[in-house]
Amino acid sequence: MALAGRSSDDPRMAHVGGFEALEQEFSYTIPNSAVRGRIPPTVRGTFLRIGPGRNRIGEDTFGHWFDGDGMVHALTFTDDGAWYRNRYVRTPKYLKETAAGRIVCRSFGHNAPGGQLKNIGRPPANAANTSIANHGGRLLALWEGGRPWALDPQTLETLGECNFDGALGLADPFSAHGHTHPQTGYYYNHGVTIGPGGPRINLYEINPAGRLTRKRHFNIDHLAFVHGSGLSGRHLVLLVHPLGMASVWPFVFGRKAFDEAIEYRPEWGMKAYVVSLETLKVERVFELAPFVLFHYGNCREEGEELVVDLIRFEDFAVAGQLRDVFGSSAAEGGKPWQYRFNLRTGAVREAALPTRLGCEFPQFDLRYSGRESRYLYTAAIADNGTPGFFNAIQRLDTRSGEVVVHDLGPGRFTSEAMFVPEGDAEGDGYLCAVVYDAATHRSEVVLLDARSDTLGEVAAVPLRNPVPFGFHCGYIQ
Ligand SMILES: [Fe+2]
Repeated sequence: MALAGRSSDDPRMAHVGGFEALEQEFSYTIPNSAVRGRIPPTVRGTFLRIGPGRNRIGEDTFGHWFDGDGMVHALTFTDDGAWYRNRYVRTPKYLKETAAGRIVCRSFGHNAPGGQLKNIGRPPANAANTSIANHGGRLLALWEGGRPWALDPQTLETLGECNFDGALGLADPFSAHGHTHPQTGYYYNHGVTIGPGGPRINLYEINPAGRLTRKRHFNIDHLAFVHGSGLSGRHLVLLVHPLGMASVWPFVFGRKAFDEAIEYRPEWGMKAYVVSLETLKVERVFELAPFVLFHYGNCREEGEELVVDLIRFEDFAVAGQLRDVFGSSAAEGGKPWQYRFNLRTGAVREAALPTRLGCEFPQFDLRYSGRESRYLYTAAIADNGTPGFFNAIQRLDTRSGEVVVHDLGPGRFTSEAMFVPEGDAEGDGYLCAVVYDAATHRSEVVLLDARSDTLGEVAAVPLRNPVPFGFHCGYIQ
């Protein structure tokens, strides 16, 4: 088992081993005797994590973090300890490049080798590496510009590309961030594409049985990179930021990779499209001062207002780190922010939410999805001497303004933390996250007490292997 990380004497590069490939696929148990602390008896579900399992193949480095092949990790908590397994998603990209031992495919961040003719008219290959959905009897590995991939929830074996019984066409991209409505059980997702009327956002509604029941679209002003959305009780809201392609032709003709063809152009302006869940049509459009966003927190109706929590970036400088995972020494976090869209008057109000650190990957108690919630949890970057990647987890109290930071310590890194409920009240539960330790080049799955004054650790399940840095998580009760 190759466990050698690429260490560095430069503390700003201490994190870089977390981007190294994990080639092996495992299935093993960890007994309670090996667990630091104690797994709470109420925690008996399965924690899921997805991200690029390899950022290089053979002598080739992908460079862009979004291009690494999707690997899913699962940790099931049991009375005896935990069961860990990990599997690559067997996409055509993964299979072709594994067989070749080198980069073959056009991807998000780079073109396929061989020049323009090898890229013209070809979409980036689906890496199935970004997020997880568990809905309608399916466990799905999600990407951004293509269809989801179905996985066996026990073994994580790839079952195949999911087109919802033919309802999701080849030109129907399915984003990495959908939502299950907590009351109706319907799942909503979107995808950006180009139709006869120009750039547009497709909307998909999937019923609790997993059938794609409605599909609609609305046109947008430019081909934007729209990563997420917010779901309230009655609306889906999509903020279209000015990050996209001024012209699609350099990409379509194969002269530029997708990432090379997108740019941040604040002069394009920014709009928030509020979609009625009843009709799946745009109910109101708001204009706002431009910024960049990827991830939303909770979202709710409050009187006439639609309240949206999100993480905001002032520009697209974060692209520098995304494009060069092995060379970047400074992680950048965003700022938690709240928008209030008045659905009657059209007025927009905004305010910064409390934070102590730059942050990303907002999560909350999903039982409170679509209604008033108080706590937001994020990955964050603390000033602990190793600032190259997320090294802390924060709890933000949006009501009192209190912020609690759990600094994981120098050389220890994380990404998104999932909320695992225990009691009934909002915030009663644990935060579950993967922590990579650069000193040992191994990872552990930690449970933090979401209620404590320090977000204190209650258990840590040590793994035999590193879990390469990933994007998003899930938890199945
Ligand atoms: Fe995301």
